Amino acid sequence: MTAAPLSGPLTGRARADRRPHSLAEWQADGGHAALGLARQQPPAAIVDMVAAAALNGRGGAGFPAAQKWRFMPAPGTIPGDGPSYLIVNGDEMEPGAFKDRLFLEALPHLVIEGAMIAAHAMHASEIIILVRDAYRIGIHAMEQAIAEVDAAGLTGRNLKIRVHASAGRYIVGEETALIEALEGKRAVPRKRPPFPAQSGLWGRPTTVNNVETIANIPGIVANGPDWFRGLSRTAEGGTKLFGVSGRVHKPQLIEAPMGTTARELIDRCGGVSGTGELLAFQPGGGASGFLGPEHLDLPLDFANVADAGSMFGTGTLIVLDTGTCPIGVIARHMRFYARESCGWCTPCREGLPWVAHIVDGLEAGTAKTADLDILHMTAGEAGPRGRSFCDLMGGAMAPLATGLHRFERQFADHAAHGCRA
Ligand SMILES: Cc1cc2nc3c(=O)[nH]c(=O)nc-3n(C[C@H](O)[C@H](O)[C@H](O)COP(=O)(O)O)c2cc1C
Ligand code: SF4
Repeated sequence: MTAAPLSGPLTGRARADRRPHSLAEWQADGGHAALGLARQQPPAAIVDMVAAAALNGRGGAGFPAAQKWRFMPAPGTIPGDGPSYLIVNGDEMEPGAFKDRLFLEALPHLVIEGAMIAAHAMHASEIIILVRDAYRIGIHAMEQAIAEVDAAGLTGRNLKIRVHASAGRYIVGEETALIEALEGKRAVPRKRPPFPAQSGLWGRPTTVNNVETIANIPGIVANGPDWFRGLSRTAEGGTKLFGVSGRVHKPQLIEAPMGTTARELIDRCGGVSGTGELLAFQPGGGASGFLGPEHLDLPLDFANVADAGSMFGTGTLIVLDTGTCPIGVIARHMRFYARESCGWCTPCREGLPWVAHIVDGLEAGTAKTADLDILHMTAGEAGPRGRSFCDLMGGAMAPLATGLHRFERQFADHAAHGCRA
């Protein structure tokens, strides 16, 4: 990733050298003013504001943030005393995703401010910021910022906030597996219902939100929902921190309006590298289906990308040029997801390694044409989301399921000759 200049209401607040602000610097830049504004208002008013802003969660599924917050019970409406939790999800292990890292490393006070406002809105008494274990710089930056905020008395008497380093597996990013991991158990997704807002961490009301979702909150409170919706080109509010990697000249993070097209993003990265001609791209990280050159002008948001047959996911594009072997890309993805299966349910635990083995065989030239039938059958059976206990398997199968159609010729060629790229 090149450290290209950032601009936009979120990332434009980062320092040019990407060093995190001290609390004094953040406050001098207007930081924590939104927190003061929010605390003067009743929690429900903040939730209404976020609903009017049309903020969809940035963790992958695009679920409306305010709707999720409304699931949290008001104090006094749940039996028993005890905390309620906001967990900020910074696990970020999706192949191709590197957007949350920027917030954690360079804008820790923005994340903390957003989390404190969100905690006020949903009556949470404890904030846990879960960070991918490999993000040591982000963990340190968040811990330092929390210490400053605590020392300055900004958390108040009734709010606790801490950082937790993830155990380093992809499944820990799934919100209920994350809760299990925080309880010190094996990270396996939970059955729902009950949903985390009813019974989450230690059986208490819990909301899990992505880092980028939370980073958007101070701006909404400071500038209002109309401003936020006006940042977008579509009905989904705000800007998006896109990450572009793969075959582009300058892979980078770009904050741009929701609804920006892949063509614009790729142009801002200096264009397609390698052959210079686009073969395909994944719009939402490794677990999203392939789109093609005909989608270059699609306004990228959750609804439009779903309508096009893929998933906006993390909004991090992986670009393939015509010189890239798409089967090789699918093989690498499959190996990752097969390894990261938590092993809880049979289709995923047994199916993903089997599929990975077949695709590896296509690469190595040891597969048979009949193996393509098996891949088609498996993609049909296991591809649709909902066929396994959590979304890992459906996401893992998306590149294969879409690739089998889009790259039919390359699959047939691999079945006959192996990889000739
Ligand atoms: C296998 C798997 C991994 C996930 N990893 C992450 C992650 O690293 N970060 C994240 O925010 N959401 C991740 N999610 C989605 C979370 O379960 C959850 O929907 C999200 O944190 C909610 O945040 P949001 O409502 O702000 O989008 C993952 C989901 C699955 C199925
Ligand atoms: S789909 Fe995979 S990751 Fe999810 S519960 Fe089943 S085995 Fe675990």
